[in-house]
Amino acid sequence: MNSSFQAPVGTHDVLAPQSALWEGLIATFAQLAFRYGFTLVVTPMFEDIGVFNRGIGENSDVATKEMYVFQDRGERTYALRPEGTASVVRAFVQHQPTTPYKAWYVTPAFRYERPQAGRYRQHHQLGVEALGTDDPAIDVEVIALAWRFYQAIGLTQVRLLINSMGHDECRGRYVDVLRGHLEEYRDQLCDEHQKTWSQNPLRVLDCKKAPCVAITNDGPSLPDFLCADCAAHFDAVRRGLTQLGVDSTLEPRLVRGFDYYTRTTFEFVADALGGAQNAIGGGGRYDGLTEQLGGKATGGIGFGSGIERLLLAREAEGITSDLINRTIDVFIVDTTGGDVATSLADELRRAGYAVERAFDGRSMKSQMKLADRSGARLALLVGPQELEAGEITMRDLRSDDFEQAQLRVAREDLVGALRDRLNK
Ligand code: HAM
Repeated sequence: MNSSFQAPVGTHDVLAPQSALWEGLIATFAQLAFRYGFTLVVTPMFEDIGVFNRGIGENSDVATKEMYVFQDRGERTYALRPEGTASVVRAFVQHQPTTPYKAWYVTPAFRYERPQAGRYRQHHQLGVEALGTDDPAIDVEVIALAWRFYQAIGLTQVRLLINSMGHDECRGRYVDVLRGHLEEYRDQLCDEHQKTWSQNPLRVLDCKKAPCVAITNDGPSLPDFLCADCAAHFDAVRRGLTQLGVDSTLEPRLVRGFDYYTRTTFEFVADALGGAQNAIGGGGRYDGLTEQLGGKATGGIGFGSGIERLLLAREAEGITSDLINRTIDVFIVDTTGGDVATSLADELRRAGYAVERAFDGRSMKSQMKLADRSGARLALLVGPQELEAGEITMRDLRSDDFEQAQLRVAREDLVGALRDRLNK
């Protein structure tokens, strides 16, 4: 019997070189979020289950079917975070930072879903939340940040779908009419929604099965039910996006999967991914969520974007550019026992270079092989001759011209010589 372990079903290990893309995505997002005035927020990976039940809605698919719930040794019931928003809002209510409070995060999220390409049981999100203002300008800022991020990582085939769910009253009126419509056709709905249409009619709009799509297409349309204030808010958001050159398409069926959404809702679809799991990001307003979690009424909006799907979308668009440079500058080949490599590596790393070396007293040949494999630009060779002369042999690993490629440098001149060779 094979006794070694594998990563759990629906999860993935990320190793180099793929992990350099993760570093690049996160660094790009962090930089952009900073420019837009967002600060990093870190919250626990698990919360009292009530944070999510009340936050995302006890009837949502995620809360009923997908949460990882456990009891700790003190018999408290916790859940692993299935998404980022509820935790950030819980922290906002707890700490009451000055508003507008604008925070970004990078976090794993856990959902017990049926794994397939682009859908995992542990995925990772980059996201932002902005709390404390109802101004449509913040909606525009949050959506534009996502859009600029997708541009920055090279994606070109992304569409922004947008809708407004209104506030409680307009949505309530819509849900009543929708429920009436669904009741009329309830026997024709898909199996699942024949059971649940009445409890949560909005979920039927999200259903991809043909009968549900047909029945809801003929039904009432959410934007027609917006009150004057919600309609004006939505107009202002769309005008703001147009002002910035961000194209959006009205999608009246877009209701998203959590109960906390009010007014603006949106999703970014990567067309290169085909039909399934093509949402690379989504979000919206959640003006009632702070109250649900015990705080004062405060407007909020944010989005989350799945790192795995962003990378799949880049791949599907054929984008191969690096997002961050992770090339090693020099590889030290020390055949005098390793002490020179130890001090030289330290010296050069402090001077700002990316340095690798060999261990375990390997032969010259074996160290040169490692140097080649490392992708380093230069090898620095130290043998008994160099040691005695106080010199280093510098070899360009990317050059075929042996004469050109090799150069002896005095140890004290090495940093200057590297600067010339590497231009940095
Ligand atoms: P969400 O649409 O559930 O929204 O997830 C956001 C993004 O995470 C999706 O668009 C997708 O890219 C990725 N994602 C979701 N589930 C999976 C999965 N099982 N496997 C791989 N990727 C996945 C939220 O989570 C909200 N918290 C977004 C938000 C922030 N709304 C307001 N603020």
